[in-house]
Amino acid sequence: MLEEIVKRSAQMPSQSKVLIFGGGFTGQHIAKVLRSLGAEVLCSRRALAKEGADFVFDSTKQTLLSEKIFHNVTHIISCIPPSKNGEDPVLSSCSKIIKMIPLKWVGYLSTTGVYGDYKGDWVTENSLTKPQQKRSIRRLSCEKEWEALQIPLQILRLPGIYGPGRSALEVIQAKKNYMVHKPNQVFSRIHVDDIAGAIIHLIHLFSKGVNPKVINLADNLPAGNIEVMSYASKLLNLPLPPIESFENASKKMSPMALSFWQENRRVSNKVLCKLLGYELLHSDYKIGLEDCLKSIPLNNYD
Ligand SMILES: NC(=O)c1ccc[n+]([C@@H]2O[C@H](COP(=O)([O-])OP(=O)(O)OC[C@H]3O[C@@H](n4cnc5c(N)ncnc54)[C@H](OP(=O)(O)O)[C@@H]3O)[C@@H](O)[C@H]2O)c1
Repeated sequence: MLEEIVKRSAQMPSQSKVLIFGGGFTGQHIAKVLRSLGAEVLCSRRALAKEGADFVFDSTKQTLLSEKIFHNVTHIISCIPPSKNGEDPVLSSCSKIIKMIPLKWVGYLSTTGVYGDYKGDWVTENSLTKPQQKRSIRRLSCEKEWEALQIPLQILRLPGIYGPGRSALEVIQAKKNYMVHKPNQVFSRIHVDDIAGAIIHLIHLFSKGVNPKVINLADNLPAGNIEVMSYASKLLNLPLPPIESFENASKKMSPMALSFWQENRRVSNKVLCKLLGYELLHSDYKIGLEDCLKSIPLNNYD
């Protein structure tokens, strides 16, 4: 689908140089799209040997980044989660230089975890942030750190990210012992193509003065775990593992896994799709999973 985003997006402004902090799953995907649209892109990883690493950045090591990296940078995208102490890894090392350079746009990838639990109700960008999990409290504090810099910033709040190589299809292929069902629990999600597509859309709008501070990036259809897993198993023609109630399953879950089931909200994308006019490539998990299926070789379904 990369070709589709490239086909329908305007080229990046000439002389664009984008620094992506955190070239993991999403960072790499955004980098590919931006490069195809004419931008120079440099991606960080914590080791040069990792795929797609253009420079090394590891906030836990005290190595200073060369100023050369920041030379002529026009856009920055941070895809790095908060550190354990709640500080933003990028800003703890680079805030001074980031403040000094004449940036056109900065995107900070945050999470919809900052909204906390809404018991299945919809959350919009205007909903109160009431994070419960420690990692979401840290995330909100990183959002505030970025805002305090007073740079041309947009905060992009993301629900579960999926895409080729990281989706419900791989979960079904892993043949887990059971699938968890919690009645009325839904999760919102976003395909990685739409993160990249939305970023290009936002960069162009921002340059025309359309610049909301916070934007949710989510698809149209929050859905329950079993609903999504059933569709993935149907696409792969593999059986759905036995379904276990949340009540039973929760007794054997790690605290991290448990924390994902303790919040229930539907993430509204009205600002992105209605107000800002972004057209989703993968409007729901079915269309998104059908796209992910294309990256799985036909003889590799079981
Ligand atoms: N995955 C989800 O469902 C989800 C949902 C909502 C929000 N988010 C957030 O969205 C962003 C992108 O997500 P993703 O799934 O693409 O993440 P990812 O694949 O795990 O990539 C995270 C990137 O951060 C880098 N990183 C982590 N700690 C670092 C540190 N201390 N110093 C320097 N670099 C560090 C990693 O370096 P290496 O490349 O060396 O590993 C990696 O490039 C993250 O902030 C994530 O928390 C994710």
